This record gives sequence, structure tokens and C-alpha cells, in this order.
Amino acid sequence: MARIVAGVTSSHVPAIGAAIDNHQTEEPYWKRVFSGFEKSKEWMAKTKPDVCIVVYNDHASAFSVEIVPTFALGCAAEFPPADEGWGPRPVPVVKGHPQLAAHIAQSVILDEFDITVVNKMEVDHGLTVPMNLLFGSPKQWPCPVIPLAVNVVLYPPPTGHRCFMLGRAIRKAVESYPEDLRVVIFGTGGMSHQISGPRAGLINSKFDKAFLDNLTKDPKKLTRIPHLEYMREAGAEGIEMVMWLIMRGALDDKVEEVYRFYTVPASNTAVGHIILENRGRGSGFASRHKAPAKRKPAAGRLKRAAALAKAERIRG
Ligand SMILES: [Fe+2]
Repeated sequence: MARIVAGVTSSHVPAIGAAIDNHQTEEPYWKRVFSGFEKSKEWMAKTKPDVCIVVYNDHASAFSVEIVPTFALGCAAEFPPADEGWGPRPVPVVKGHPQLAAHIAQSVILDEFDITVVNKMEVDHGLTVPMNLLFGSPKQWPCPVIPLAVNVVLYPPPTGHRCFMLGRAIRKAVESYPEDLRVVIFGTGGMSHQISGPRAGLINSKFDKAFLDNLTKDPKKLTRIPHLEYMREAGAEGIEMVMWLIMRGALDDKVEEVYRFYTVPASNTAVGHIILENRGRGSGFASRHKAPAKRKPAAGRLKRAAALAKAERIRG
């Protein structure tokens, strides 16, 4: 059986991609951002997922405003990097996993999440930047990736609750796939930021940090945040954080937070990053947790057993 072993959230700021592509990662401004992902890359190299599901949003690269699917699942064999106006990023073509993707599509649609199946799609910085942050810059990405593009650019985006429940449905889909695959799911984007208008440059660290806390401990609370509250507290583009709830919905209720990083700013955005591991059954991390000790027989039970044995001997 396939299983989701962990969830990762990551910023997907395009300027991070530009800093990588232009070899600026050692500059003091960018070093502060990239150093926060060094441990994450080590974690990912150890975790070695067989497949990643990357929840991100397309920025008018694959979908223009003519067609805006709410949830679009990439079922193709590969996804080339998109040309976002200055040529495609020099990153490897993303290889898909069409069999698992088709299985997820069937399972979630039968569970009444009417996602759009996409058989041809280019992927932009929303997907490739988090790949760089977690995998570095290899010649080939080390595992297949299933992109899940979510509309957060044209009103109305999905609610946080809908996203969380879709995460649940994705988990069910993954766990009904017969091949033994270890899957890591990404939620990307955020955190607080506003790109244009009178509040351009808005960053709300208090909101962001509370969001990170609740992502680990009380995600259901986050599912009740309305769109207007994201707008007010986290800026117009802060709505990207609903995508993190798809990732969180795909995990156990109780998770182990193994890493967190938060820094301000990267470009005009707050960068938030967290790694959550599933603690539960079959998550593949059982070796790190002690097996529960065998229950010692209570003194009372021992006495009762001895008395019973004595009575049996007397009767015999
Ligand atoms: Fe974005």
C-alpha cells in the first residue's frame, strides 16, 4: 500500500528561483533565506520519497484567465518548466507519475471532489522553487512529482475547509493504491504578503507564526478562517495559505513537527517552512519511536490468579 509519510510547506517566491538561477544564494540577503533550508534538504535526502505530490498555484503560466480550474491534477508523464516571461527556468523537466495520478483522480472524484484532470501542463515557479529548496539543484529531480494546481489567483478560491477535506480524500486515494510507495506532500506559497495596492509590502508575522503553530497542533481551527480574514490579516496574496491545508488534511491528526523556519522578508514576502511527519501506523518512521512496553500484570490480578490456582488445586 502507498502511504503519505510527511508533509512539507514551503514558500515559492519567484525571486528565490531567480537568486538560484543567477548564483546569488551566497549573498548575505539570500544566504539568510537559503540557510533555513539546509536541514530540510538533509531531511529530504534521508526521507527519500518515491513520489511527491506538490500542491501549488499556477501564476497564469499554464492557465490564462480564460480557464481557471479550482483544482487541477497533473496526470501527464512529464511537466516542462514554463516560460514566465524571461525563458523557462534552467531546472529539470518534472517527471510525473501518471498511474498514481490517475488513481488519485478517480478516487477523489468518486469522493465528490470534481477536480480537473490535466494531461498536458507546464509548471511555473510555484512548483519549481519549492523543489529547489527541498532537493537543491540536481540534474534530474530524484523522484516523480504529481502537481496539484489550486486557484488562488482569481476570486473565488476554494475555502480552507474544502482544501483540508480534499487533503483527506487524497490520503484515502494514496492509501488505496496497491504499490508500496512512500509519498511526501507539499503545500506551497504564502505566507503573509501583498504585491500591489496601498498595502503593498504588508507582512504580519504574528498571524504567520500563529498559523504555523496551528498547522501542527490545531489545523481544524485554520479551516474556519474566512477569505476576508486572510485578506485583512495576511494581505491579498496571503490566501495562498489555504493550499497548506490540503497538505495538512492528508496527514494524521497528530503529527510530529520535525522542523520549522520563518524569516522576513524574501522579496516582499514572509517565508514560512515546516516539516511534519506522520506518527501513525505504517508511516515509515516507527523506528524512531519506542515500541510500547508490554503491560505488566497488576499486583491485584496476580493475587487473584494465585488464589484461583490454589482453589483449583484444592478442588483437584
Ligand atoms: Fe504564488
